[in-house]
Amino acid sequence: MLDSFRHFLRWRLGLAPAETQTSTAERAAIARHARGKASCVEIGVWHGVNTRNIREVMAATAVLTGVDPFPPGRLGFSFPMIIAKHECARSRRGTFRLLRCTSAEAAARWTAPIDFLFVDGDHSYEALRADWEGWSPHLLPGGIACLHDSRPTAARPIHAAGSVRFTDEVILKDPRFEVLESVETLLVLRRRGPAAGASGGG
Ligand SMILES: C[S@@+](CC[C@H](N)C(=O)[O-])C[C@H]1O[C@@H](n2cnc3c(N)ncnc32)[C@H](O)[C@@H]1O
Repeated sequence: MLDSFRHFLRWRLGLAPAETQTSTAERAAIARHARGKASCVEIGVWHGVNTRNIREVMAATAVLTGVDPFPPGRLGFSFPMIIAKHECARSRRGTFRLLRCTSAEAAARWTAPIDFLFVDGDHSYEALRADWEGWSPHLLPGGIACLHDSRPTAARPIHAAGSVRFTDEVILKDPRFEVLESVETLLVLRRRGPAAGASGGG
């Protein structure tokens, strides 16, 4: 709590940046795959670093939804949410909206098709199961799912993480999806089938 408040003050004074656990290479991959997308969802917003990253490259008319419960701290409000709202507002591209609830709660009410999904919320096995079961059906053919902390690397040996185990045991065997690439701990998948607007032949 104290660390969070200290960082908030330093951020407010322009002495510290918004924080993210994603690396430069992972952020570049997220931007590459989100470019031009029309309906984007991020699970787990934290300080909004990648929310803004996605917003800056998505289609000009796109809608980006960030989902995070932002639990209130002891003072009754969430410093990360304040930072996230400010960071996301630094881009004015398309429409951004924040759903302050868990991924499972948002998915239970969700009906719209999406073409870009960034999953980076609770990394436990059961939470990623809820993310995958709740959100993957909404991805259009050709749509992209980026999963953070889903692959261990030498620098981040997260073999035992629930997100890595669920990815290995379930997501990599999901016949609806194919792997496009992995960048450090980030796995990028594409929903099989012709993307909207693709002509079927040559
Ligand atoms: C690793 S941080 C997200 C970092 C962010 N995506 C980025 O790129 O910098 C994890 C976030 O997930 C949120 N979170 C935790 N459980 C969640 C859940 N069940 N649904 C959605 N978000 C959740 C936390 O509040 C936290 O802000």
